[in-house]
Amino acid sequence: GRTVRLAVVPGDGIGPEVVAEGLKVLRAVTADSDVAFEETLFSLGAARYLETGDVLTDADLAAVKEHDAIVLGAVGGVPGDPRLAGANIERGLLLKLRFELDHYVNLRPTTLYPGVASPLADPGEVDFVVVREGTEGPYVGNGGAIRAGTPHEVANEVSVNTAYGVERVVRYAFAQASARRGRLTLVHKTNVLVFAGSLWKRTVDAVAAEFPGVAVDYLHVDAATIFLVADPGRFDVIVTDNLFGDILTDLAGAISGGIGLAASGNINPEGRFPSMFEPVHGSAPDIAGKGIADPTAAILSIAIMLDHLGLATEAGRIRDAVTVDLAERGDARRSTAEVGDAIAARLDQATRIPKEEVQL
Ligand code: NAD
Ligand code: IPM
Ligand code: MN
Repeated sequence: GRTVRLAVVPGDGIGPEVVAEGLKVLRAVTADSDVAFEETLFSLGAARYLETGDVLTDADLAAVKEHDAIVLGAVGGVPGDPRLAGANIERGLLLKLRFELDHYVNLRPTTLYPGVASPLADPGEVDFVVVREGTEGPYVGNGGAIRAGTPHEVANEVSVNTAYGVERVVRYAFAQASARRGRLTLVHKTNVLVFAGSLWKRTVDAVAAEFPGVAVDYLHVDAATIFLVADPGRFDVIVTDNLFGDILTDLAGAISGGIGLAASGNINPEGRFPSMFEPVHGSAPDIAGKGIADPTAAILSIAIMLDHLGLATEAGRIRDAVTVDLAERGDARRSTAEVGDAIAARLDQATRIPKEEVQL
């Protein structure tokens, strides 16, 4: 059998709560298969920083790299906690992992599952994926402040976009579009961010020539938020930069049943480094410790991981089980563990239910 070395970073707040359910479902789906997941626990995050003063040491990073994939819950403490002022867990841990492991594709699919309530009155079919660039843009930390703390402070945060970095993520997005419904939307702000916008636009136009089957269009990011609410069915694949992609994918989660369902993969497509799978949401300090966080996003992130690892059957079984659970969920208030148990219990049942019967 095959062994997959899995690094597990539960993190902070609801991170450990939802990761426990994701692993529960992973263990259940692989129980009778010939692939074994060997889990290594990494206690990283705000809690670890408060205990030891470490965010992510070189040794931690080297150890994480020895794995085939990473599952992460969420990191970050309570915003404004003065004890965390000296550390930036998000930058020093989450972004450091994305950058060091060259996760240039941040894959964030959005599906409005049958029977799931959307806040939109008439959402129609919603099934698109955001290919968010993961290693560049305003996230690179190319900035600084001068005369800080004075009335004349100048704070710069430079967005870095390289031809190499834009082209590789755009190419990945085209490949996704041609494997899906053949429609790619570039989202940017070319009317104002003229240098980066021009690079993204020219790159999309150039790569488009290699994908004649993909129809390309463009939206400014502000207009894209209108269409995500007014006509989300128009989207198939969206490709965009790191910051726009961050914002659009919280909105995408909100229109498709809530952030508790939004899954993601931070992917290094060439497999030079382990890819990392995590819910789109954060550590949710407002509900942490209550056992009420929705673990579905963490569970669906496991499915994205299984696809990435070439375990499509197992990934499909998880998605089918989630589909059935969502269709029957209704308004029932269940605990985090109850949702995980229900989905794990559905793994075998779901495959025996014909797809049409779940399309409510
Ligand atoms: P958040 O996503 O943690 O929470 C936003 C809202 O969504 C809250 O009301 C929360 O209760 C709710 N929510 C989130 N996940 C949920 C779930 N699974 N089930 C039910 N409700 C859920 O965003 P925030 O409040 O802006 O950030 C909190 C902390 O998390 C910050 O420190 C932030 O930096 C960090 N963060 C981390 C990640 C990550 O690790 N990937 C992502 C986003 C934010
Ligand atoms: C996300 C988060 C992160 C991001 C933060 C916590 C650094 O919001 O994964 O969407 O901005 O990418
Ligand atoms: Mn975000």
